[in-house]
Amino acid sequence: MSDTMKRVYVETYGCQMNVADTELILGLLGRDGYLVTDTPADADVILVNTCAIRDNAEQRIYGRVGELKRHKRAGGVLGVVGCMAQRLGAGLLDRIPHVDLVVGPDGYRGLPELIRRAAGGERAVDVEFRSWEHYEDVPAVRTNRVSAFVTVQRGCNYRCTFCVVPMTRGAERSRNLTDVVREVEGLARGGVTEVTLLGQTVNSYHDGTHDFADLLRRVASVDGIRRLRFTSPHPNDFSHRVVDAMAEVREVCEHVHLPVQSGATRVLKRMLRRYSRESYLACVDRLRTAIPDLAVTTDIIVGFPGETEEDFLETESLVREVRFDDAFTFKYSVRDGTPAVKIKSHVPDDVAGERLERIIDTVRRIARSKNAGLVGTTHEVLVAKRARRGELLQSRTRTNKVVLIEGTLDLVGSYQHIRLTGTTGSTFTGVPAAVRRELAVIG
Ligand code: SAH
Ligand code: F3S
Repeated sequence: MSDTMKRVYVETYGCQMNVADTELILGLLGRDGYLVTDTPADADVILVNTCAIRDNAEQRIYGRVGELKRHKRAGGVLGVVGCMAQRLGAGLLDRIPHVDLVVGPDGYRGLPELIRRAAGGERAVDVEFRSWEHYEDVPAVRTNRVSAFVTVQRGCNYRCTFCVVPMTRGAERSRNLTDVVREVEGLARGGVTEVTLLGQTVNSYHDGTHDFADLLRRVASVDGIRRLRFTSPHPNDFSHRVVDAMAEVREVCEHVHLPVQSGATRVLKRMLRRYSRESYLACVDRLRTAIPDLAVTTDIIVGFPGETEEDFLETESLVREVRFDDAFTFKYSVRDGTPAVKIKSHVPDDVAGERLERIIDTVRRIARSKNAGLVGTTHEVLVAKRARRGELLQSRTRTNKVVLIEGTLDLVGSYQHIRLTGTTGSTFTGVPAAVRRELAVIG
């Protein structure tokens, strides 16, 4: 029987929400009788879950879809789903002739049917927005047994002028708190102890009755949940209620990823970020006052239209002032249909490239010195998996620092008390902290 079952292979690009969406896609197809394979050559259906945030993300996907073509069988299906599918729609079918399925983030429920049509020779497209869609009844197929992403909000109602997300994921909507809690309870029963709540501006979560503070408190109270994270918040949505909940709820980890984009108020205005340099800094201050030892990471864009050298220097000085633990740094990428396309004063690519190098260097220098200062301190880590290289295990502190420790695979999923012994500047090595080791021997 099983050799007649269809096999699906999904490759995921982009943000954590795409990782979570892939788990939903696998759940939907699993319900329809598909088996999952991690070898494209074995698959009847190959899907690429895509990102549209920057042009280089899309170029990479074109390349990859071209490579996957050779694994497509007679009667098989090669589909592009996710944000790039939504952005380009049926146009993708013309641009990549061997693709026969294009489905946006709100259309996954229709995948079983659309795949059947594509397998029958039709070229199937669904890029409709469905603002009610939360895939509430879909049993996500989880690949990680320890830590889970839980999407609590889809879409985005901000209109940052550089950003394609409102065009690819539609209007913001939040799941009901009770539905989120039910899902987390199920995850916890299965052994998950760490949950990351996902949304484009996740702290603006509101289900009509409950806000993000309620959600944090309620999810953290689920039996078995030891660590609660969220990404990404927007500075304007850190109400006192949310900050209080973060400070009071033990399970909420001491890390916030708070995209700043630029340190120059002039640029922030043109980006329509709705905060100034000063109000961003004030937000970080409030968070750090409420949550001692909070790690703060960010996203930065350089070369936004009209960005002068002086503006850029303000971004550098903000990085030095906040002393971020880390940052994702990007060169501005023009996205068709976004408002920033109309801003005239284009920054030449070599200037943007050179600013990118400088900001990366500043970020690294600060991260390195902060991390060097942490060597010798003790932390609780959650062991995640085998490290990419060697015999070590990869674990994370509550502040989201990566620590490599010695140990066997049975430690995966466990919490260990460790002392940081060294750092490469970005990741750490650690050993069991002495006190706990004695306790463990006695206990
Ligand atoms: N609301 C989401 C943003 C998703 S996009 C969040 O806060 O996580 C992730 C990051 O990509 C943004 O924070 C921004 O720094 C970067 N980005 C978005 N659009 C971009 C563009 N057109 N060019 C370069 N970087 C971009
Ligand atoms: Fe994009 Fe701004 Fe929303 S960066 S996802 S439009 S908050």
